[in-house]
Amino acid sequence: MCEKCKGNFYITTPIYYPSAKLHIGHTYCTVATDAMARYKRLQGYNVKFLTGTDEHGQKIEDKAREAGVTPQQFVDNIVEGEGGVLDLWKLMNISYDRFIRTTDDYHVAAIQKIFKKMYENGDIYKGTYKGKYCKPCESFWTESQLVDGKCPDCGREVQDAEEEAYFFRLSKYADRVQDLLENTDFLEPRSRVHEMVNNFIKPGLEDLCVSRTSFTWGVPVDFDPGHVVYVWIDALFNYMTALGFENDKYNDLSEFWPADVHFVGKEIVRFHSIIWPAMLMSLNLPLPKKVFGHGWLLLDGGKMSKSKGNVVDPYILAEHFGVDALRFFLLRTFPFGSDGNFSNEALISTINVDLANDLGNLVSRTVAMAQKYFGETLPAEQLANEEMDAELVGMVSGLRARYEEQMEHYAFQNALAEIFKVISRANKYIDENAPWVLAKDEANKPRLAKVLYNLLETVRICGGLLAPFMPATSEEIAKRLGGAQMDWESLGQFGMLTPTVATVAGPALFPRIDMEKELKVLEEMNKPVEVPTEPEVEFKPDIAFDEFEKVDMTVVKVLTCEKVKKSEKLLKFTLDDGSKEPRQILSGIAKFYEPEQLIGKTLVAVTNLAPRKMMGQMSCGMLLSAEKGDKLNLVMLDDSIAAGSKLV
Ligand code: MSP
Repeated sequence: MCEKCKGNFYITTPIYYPSAKLHIGHTYCTVATDAMARYKRLQGYNVKFLTGTDEHGQKIEDKAREAGVTPQQFVDNIVEGEGGVLDLWKLMNISYDRFIRTTDDYHVAAIQKIFKKMYENGDIYKGTYKGKYCKPCESFWTESQLVDGKCPDCGREVQDAEEEAYFFRLSKYADRVQDLLENTDFLEPRSRVHEMVNNFIKPGLEDLCVSRTSFTWGVPVDFDPGHVVYVWIDALFNYMTALGFENDKYNDLSEFWPADVHFVGKEIVRFHSIIWPAMLMSLNLPLPKKVFGHGWLLLDGGKMSKSKGNVVDPYILAEHFGVDALRFFLLRTFPFGSDGNFSNEALISTINVDLANDLGNLVSRTVAMAQKYFGETLPAEQLANEEMDAELVGMVSGLRARYEEQMEHYAFQNALAEIFKVISRANKYIDENAPWVLAKDEANKPRLAKVLYNLLETVRICGGLLAPFMPATSEEIAKRLGGAQMDWESLGQFGMLTPTVATVAGPALFPRIDMEKELKVLEEMNKPVEVPTEPEVEFKPDIAFDEFEKVDMTVVKVLTCEKVKKSEKLLKFTLDDGSKEPRQILSGIAKFYEPEQLIGKTLVAVTNLAPRKMMGQMSCGMLLSAEKGDKLNLVMLDDSIAAGSKLV
């Protein structure tokens, strides 16, 4: 730790499944973690911020197979490919210090060692797994945990599952974990404690299945080939392997473990607050100081999906409204511990009200007035007015403390509310002091200068405290105040801005958005792309290879071709099939071809079909053709292929 640092601070996001592109819900958690990490850095902590991807498991294996690539190629593309996870975090200005992928060699090797240690200490044993398995969630459930017989997380069907597997003795740690949850502040918000204890611990904790044999895309159990480590040991220990636990790649464990806080979504609180501490207890390792279970972003009360007309692609939203506006919206609008309803309307309205009207106006008006009345710098001669200034100055002076109180409890919404109360008060202060009236009389110039100074100082402190949420905007505000100081110390004291501050004008920080127009644009962008529907392919029942082999498919050249009299459908062909005698075949394609078009063409015929009579004429075989819509297309080959060649 550096000498000046206040201490170390280790914070993590969940590691995300790269089974598909990440959406605004994942972005929400990462932005919150980033805000916390930036806040702690601002305070002077030596911060380690970890995020990453959880790349193993059956779902990834299945998705890769569907995509026709290897699982590694599949996850590489989602993580490192264009528009992937790394690009998204870059776009969103996420200041992570380390990114772990569970397919990283050092992590894989470390997980094998961890698994073996727990096997050797007796906490992992071999048994038979019988239970209910939710494939999309990769979760096992007991009968009692199912909701209406379905997966309690996603509501989908579960399957009976039975196989040889390793188990972790979770039951052994039930009492210690219950004590941890009930008698410490390990898990927050508090409401989640009751949920965990009542739903999972009190009904009886069962041992946890920690290996699988039904898929291969995972960390192999090195002492028992065929088993791969089932996802949660692999996933949860990322928080420690990324610091160097059981590997030489990193060496920060003593500095940063135990973690100060794991931010996780509410659906994985169970894994982090019951299973994770139990595994750490098994290895006699220190427990993280806190797990915070945040709520979900919902769309019309349900889980995220694109069907409702709301854009959930963070790329589109950030591009459209700006990264800082999006970051701000996510943390300003929803209490972090509860669910929140995401909508395009709410996003636009927050931008208009808080950012364009309140913050943006305060900055523009203040800087514009300072420049208009005094040019580039404020004069040193300034006149305070205790009665007029006290309330604003008092509010701004105590802002850092009130903000800190909220931030320490991960109450981002409340911390921002404190800032915006001050911003509103400052806008009112402008009206109360009416600088445009003061400016009319030269004698009022010192008072006018003080009014503007108070406003600029308010902007500095608010702008500085907004940095964890809107880093680029905060920097821009500092620039408009002539490169004002925004370090933690100075944000706690009113009056640190130099009285002769030099201001810099600039365009509106957040232009107002035309709600109606923009909603239409977004709706349009969100419309599903019309994909022409492919005809349903019907397959006939399988036939044995020796049956198929009986079909004789021969390359033929068209010698003559003519219409069959009185038939609309039939064309009569004489064909060179490589034998001495020409072959006659009748084919129902008259609607689609002119006979002369086909003379000389190289086609494929089934030549051992029993001869049939059609319209009084013999047909010895059948020409192969493919359907396209209503049309039949003869299968044509390259003319260089000799008549009589066989299709194999
Ligand atoms: N891989 C596991 C986590 C392992 S951590 C050791 C996993 N991955 S996930 O990709 O499914 O999602 C993880 C996290 O994404 C959630 O816990 C949550 O933080 C975030 N969110 C996913 N959808 C979300 C919303 N709709 N709203 C808010 N957060 C959401 O579970």
